[in-house]
Amino acid sequence: MKRTILNIGAHRLQPSTLMMSYGFDPKLSEGAIKCPIFQNSTFAFESAAAGKSFMQIAYGIRDREPSEDPGLIYSRINNPTLEILEDRLTLWDGAENALAFGSGMAAISTTILTFARPGDVILYSTPAYGGTEFLFEKLLPQFGIRSLSFPARALEEEVTLAYDRAEQLAGEAGRIPLIFAETPANPTNDLVDIALLRRVAESRSPRRDQRAKVIVDNTLLGPLWQQPLKHGADISIYSLTKYVGGHSDLIAGSCLGTAADIASIQVMRTILGTMVDPHTAWLLLRSLETLSIRMRKSAESAAIVANHLRNHKKIAAIQYLGFLDTESEQGKTFSAQCEGAGSTFSIILHGGEPEAFRFLDALQIIKLAVSLGGTESLASHPAGMTHVDVSERAKQTCGILPSLVRLSIGVEEPEDLIADLEQALAKV
Ligand SMILES: Cc1ncc(COP(=O)(O)O)c(C=O)c1O
Repeated sequence: MKRTILNIGAHRLQPSTLMMSYGFDPKLSEGAIKCPIFQNSTFAFESAAAGKSFMQIAYGIRDREPSEDPGLIYSRINNPTLEILEDRLTLWDGAENALAFGSGMAAISTTILTFARPGDVILYSTPAYGGTEFLFEKLLPQFGIRSLSFPARALEEEVTLAYDRAEQLAGEAGRIPLIFAETPANPTNDLVDIALLRRVAESRSPRRDQRAKVIVDNTLLGPLWQQPLKHGADISIYSLTKYVGGHSDLIAGSCLGTAADIASIQVMRTILGTMVDPHTAWLLLRSLETLSIRMRKSAESAAIVANHLRNHKKIAAIQYLGFLDTESEQGKTFSAQCEGAGSTFSIILHGGEPEAFRFLDALQIIKLAVSLGGTESLASHPAGMTHVDVSERAKQTCGILPSLVRLSIGVEEPEDLIADLEQALAKV
């Protein structure tokens, strides 16, 4: 597909503008203003030699010439709707390349399996999304890949110590192939300093080409309010199910990074078959057109709602990024790496699970459901829902308390949400 313009003269177009056009040439699709859904499993080759040549590139048997068209083969390998989506996804983060997956977990697991081998030890920040934690703690050990965690708020010395402990665990044969961070962490909004992880990876790795990759789950703030690649991450991962999809009507994921890293992950994706389907890719192209409007509106509403709840007598604490003390370590990380506070935050009620459940059951407009980043506001109970499998001890250590309720603020009018929250709090 022909790439469209990025600049008008010296003027650089912004991602929110490019979401309407980048990577798609209407001339190639009967003048259609929108990219069609290429709902195909397979694509016709012009000749047998062309088919052989395309397959050689897809399987890494030979490198693509700079001017060579990669060629469409089969939708597990490539598909025009996916490729246009992937081109557009690179723009916000300034990545060389991107890949789209059937879910955020497909993006995470395929990326990890690309870089980790039996005997290796992965270093990761906690808290992390329950599915990620399950992958690291329960599934990967079955394949000889172990993990060691460090708290999201850890300072440099603590992360370095964790790295050294991971190296001891890995012994002579193993490696530390990657450091994985979810920042802000779901559900506490604890921030991991991405530049710090990069410094630790660089200072501890024996050789430059063996450096642990820094992989960041950017689901909660990306792509508008945080771009991890600009702060030292090698790979930025998304659950596109959340803000990017934005309408709670699809499941998808992506990873972004250098052309070389993405090419390695693409081989794993092709064989595992973890790519997104063309229809979902097309829905995501639609969603990208309004992404910046949706994220801005929900962030504005979240600020109004959070300010209203800040000193509420039924609430013991509120974990909204906009309230961080700028002099604190977390506040400094926020100023250095985030461009906005987003619209997902947690409140900790006075009391425990019964109070949290009474509040959740009383909500009228805000839906009681897991997930976040949709146009509608959602509330959930992480300790009993998304993080139910995390041990009680780990939940206590990370602050996933029985009285914690996570709110994802949508695009409704904030005054209406406040009315709903007030009447539910009154029932606690
Ligand atoms: C931070 C984070 N990462 C990854 C995932 C997994 O995404 P998916 O449900 O699209 O597989 C989630 C899902 O809630 C999440 O919150």
